[in-house]
Amino acid sequence: MISKDSYIYIAGHRGMVGSAVWRALQNEGYTNLIGKTSAELDLRNQKAVNDFIVNEKPDIIIDAAAKVGGILANNDFPYQFLMENMQIQNNLIQAAHENNIEKFIFLGSSCIYPKLAPQPLKEEYLLTAPLEPTNEWYAIAKISGVKLCQAIRSQFGKDFVSLMPTNLYGPFDNFDLKSSHVLPAMLRKFHEAKENNNAAVTLWGSGKPMREFLHVDDMAQAVLFAVNNVLPDYLYNVGTGTDITINELATTIQNSVGHTGEIVWDKTKPDGTPRKLMNSDKLNKLGWKATYSLEDGINKTYSWFIENQNNIKKINLK
Ligand SMILES: NC(=O)c1ccc[n+]([C@@H]2O[C@H](COP(=O)([O-])OP(=O)(O)OC[C@H]3O[C@@H](n4cnc5c(N)ncnc54)[C@H](OP(=O)(O)O)[C@@H]3O)[C@@H](O)[C@H]2O)c1
Repeated sequence: MISKDSYIYIAGHRGMVGSAVWRALQNEGYTNLIGKTSAELDLRNQKAVNDFIVNEKPDIIIDAAAKVGGILANNDFPYQFLMENMQIQNNLIQAAHENNIEKFIFLGSSCIYPKLAPQPLKEEYLLTAPLEPTNEWYAIAKISGVKLCQAIRSQFGKDFVSLMPTNLYGPFDNFDLKSSHVLPAMLRKFHEAKENNNAAVTLWGSGKPMREFLHVDDMAQAVLFAVNNVLPDYLYNVGTGTDITINELATTIQNSVGHTGEIVWDKTKPDGTPRKLMNSDKLNKLGWKATYSLEDGINKTYSWFIENQNNIKKINLK
């Protein structure tokens, strides 16, 4: 039985998602939490992971640890993205299974779904068509994690469940312009343009693609929901259910930051997929729903950025 005294191990507790999950659990009264940095416990090391789980015997494991990166990194390091992600999750899942851990929550991402699947993406589209080639290494690793948890669930009747979040943003995001996602990159660009009195901000592409964004604290509430309840199925999407154009995103961020100049779209740069929206009805029907409006989420993230910008370099170099 899960209670407020349950011992919970959050793998990747210093990351954007893991740290949000830690905050959410603490706020809910779960105080028996444990996390280890990658320097303290390298999750690619099977023996180290198994020894740790045998010694600590947590009641719940939340796997928010992964080697993450953009298209460039995936393209340049396909072996590491496939191998290290499989190692991290296999070691955790096997140790959890063999040591009878009560609950295991595996986090993946929307890239597990086929490139040309109908939108909004439903859980049942998994493995129905080819993946997006640029991140298939990462996606294959994540799909194997989903399948391992599904196999353990169906063969042994254990509470192993996978949550697939849409694009996330919030505190402890990566604001490094060379490797960041679109939302934190825009936030930083508008902030720097305001600080330097630059009238125009140039952004990549046409501004027309549509994307969905979820505040990481809403994601953490979905994890909390999976901690508090035994979910009846093996795979759940976690998103807001609505998407906006990249142009609308830019305007929202520009207003939040207080930059008043022009936005220039560099149409020589690629747009990527025209639309990516998840269908999160399955988790919504059970009772979890996103609560942040995009405006509130961006305002809160910008305040965090202002308060923490001196540490952000350090955070991004972790
Ligand atoms: N960010 C998004 O927009 C997004 C969207 C959808 C899904 N997700 C999913 O959410 C999960 C977490 O993502 P995130 O954005 O929070 O990533 P993140 O900020 O980069 O954090 C990843 C964490 O994984 C840990 N880690 C990596 N390799 C490790 C190793 N070998 N041993 C031990 N720990 C290791 C890191 O630990 P140290 O800090 O100690 O090195 C770090 O805390 C991933 O599964 C990702 O697919 C993220």
